[in-house]
Amino acid sequence: MKKLTDLKVRFVGAGNMAVSLIGGLLNRGFMPSQITASDPGGHQRQIVTEKFGVQTFTDNNEHFGIPDIVILAVKPQIMKKVTQDIARSVAETNALVISIAAGIKVEHLEKWLSIDAAIVRTMPNTPALIGEGATGLFANTNVTKEQKHLTEGIMDSVGISHWVDEEFKIDVVTALSGSGPAYFFLFMEYMEKTAIELGLKPEVATKLVEQTALGSAILAQRSPDSISTLREKVTSPNGTTEAALNSFDNNELEDTIKQALNAANNRSIQLSKEFS
Ligand SMILES: NC(=O)c1ccc[n+]([C@@H]2O[C@H](COP(=O)([O-])OP(=O)(O)OC[C@H]3O[C@@H](n4cnc5c(N)ncnc54)[C@H](OP(=O)(O)O)[C@@H]3O)[C@@H](O)[C@H]2O)c1
Repeated sequence: MKKLTDLKVRFVGAGNMAVSLIGGLLNRGFMPSQITASDPGGHQRQIVTEKFGVQTFTDNNEHFGIPDIVILAVKPQIMKKVTQDIARSVAETNALVISIAAGIKVEHLEKWLSIDAAIVRTMPNTPALIGEGATGLFANTNVTKEQKHLTEGIMDSVGISHWVDEEFKIDVVTALSGSGPAYFFLFMEYMEKTAIELGLKPEVATKLVEQTALGSAILAQRSPDSISTLREKVTSPNGTTEAALNSFDNNELEDTIKQALNAANNRSIQLSKEFS
């Protein structure tokens, strides 16, 4: 079985996500010589070369070599063109193809690459940019157990990852963790704004809300208690927290959140259709 650090990896697209994944892989013991990347943008290539010492190319087929893994890190809108462009290079390698593009279904990647490729579709989120991402993974039937293991190694270099057994669940992952950071930011934004209205200095409100979000997330991760038990433990009868939670209930927060996640799930399904 191949070790993660024995692999050769080719990135197609060297934007924000590729940069964070390359950083994560180097932190896990990869050598820069094991990685190559292609991107038409000079600025991104310069970042990758100067920051990591990784060789980059303008053309996606240039110095393609025989990578074990090809990571598709371009925007969904150009995925069809890019995959068709590299189809022959990929076919010559037997490489595992990992797509990080939102909304691009495995069946379309299979069609555009026109080979029996082993393909993993992933749905990462923006905290991956600081190594704290949460990624959903779905594999087609050509992906071996070993390749699944290697994929986890790659995506876990920028956070945590979990497999889903049916592709439609990637839309649910998109609605939960893909778009999730924005839900928390919105909540934090409203808390910050109200605390300022109630008299706190903006910088104090910002610091306190950031640390509260961070502390709550870490507590939820580390505690053996469920999230709802943790919430109950903070809520004393007739106390301040109960007053706030009753206000949320009266304003049907649960229903609001349900509707929001359903809207994101539906939009994800719709986008997949548009991108295909
Ligand atoms: N950022 C996130 O947190 C996040 C979360 C979930 C999923 N994703 C997915 O990850 C993918 C990459 O996102 P990103 O945020 O890294 O985007 P990005 O920063 O825009 O990176 C994409 C890169 O691809 C380059 N590119 C354009 N045309 C190309 C071509 N023909 N061949 C090769 N490279 C080309 C772009 O160059 P130019 O800028 O010069 O066009 C850019 O450097 C997207 O599909 C997105 O859906 C991202």
